[in-house]
Amino acid sequence: MTGTEAEPLLELAGVRAGYGAIEVLHGVDLALRPGSLLALLGPNGGGKSTTMRVCAGLHPATGGELRLAGRKVNGISAQDAAKLGVCSIPEGRGVFPNLTVRENLWAATGTGARLADLEEKAYGRFPILGKRRDQLAGSMSGGEQQMLALSRALGTDPAVLLLDELSMGLAPMIVTRMYDTVAGLVEEGLSVLVAEQFARAVLPIADTAALMLNGRVVATGAPAEIEGRMAGDYLGG
Ligand SMILES: Nc1ncnc2c1ncn2[C@@H]1O[C@H](COP(=O)(O)OP(=O)(O)OP(=O)(O)O)[C@@H](O)[C@H]1O
Ligand SMILES: [Mg+2]
Repeated sequence: MTGTEAEPLLELAGVRAGYGAIEVLHGVDLALRPGSLLALLGPNGGGKSTTMRVCAGLHPATGGELRLAGRKVNGISAQDAAKLGVCSIPEGRGVFPNLTVRENLWAATGTGARLADLEEKAYGRFPILGKRRDQLAGSMSGGEQQMLALSRALGTDPAVLLLDELSMGLAPMIVTRMYDTVAGLVEEGLSVLVAEQFARAVLPIADTAALMLNGRVVATGAPAEIEGRMAGDYLGG
């Protein structure tokens, strides 16, 4: 199921990045294999979101290499990353609060997908969204908004999905439900990188886990192994 021998679809090698003069990623190594789920775990401020943004072409790497399907793509724009199949849901949800559910799906059609297809897929996966199709996204529950964000991201038929703190602000039951959906997508062949503070939510469905502390990945391995390691370093969820 993991395909550990396969070439990584997305890879970071010694990646450095920062904000202004302050470097926050000090040489990050990560490899996402095709059709697998990699959980990027670690405490607040470790650099998970910055790493995700670098992967999405939303933040520049100042050193090291960002590779997609083996090709160095440092400096790639977010649009070009999306064209190559990398899609992200940023921390804090990727929906427009002042647009309805339909309009949000429509706004994801920039890549050429038809609205009718997007709606069919989204409402098939999350029937509640169909019932709320004319409701403003900002007035829906956190879980519903996250379902919409996921539907928007999947509308572009990505090869790589980047999820940053899917669990944020959601009830544990909803988090489980969201990650069940994500596990199904991985089964269908999608490659997913998940950044999570709430490790317990994602470890059960992860193929590999990486522990990030102070801008470095300090351990990568089987989820159980990293879970044990985390208990020593910090308590993740
Ligand atoms: N826009 C920004 N400007 C300046 N510094 C930033 C910015 N965003 C993040 N940082 C800093 O970079 C470091 C890494 O932050 P990042 O958001 O990547 O961590 P994180 O692991 O995602 O944390 P959390 O678990 O809280 O989401 C932190 O010290 C943070 O203060
Ligand atoms: Mg973060």
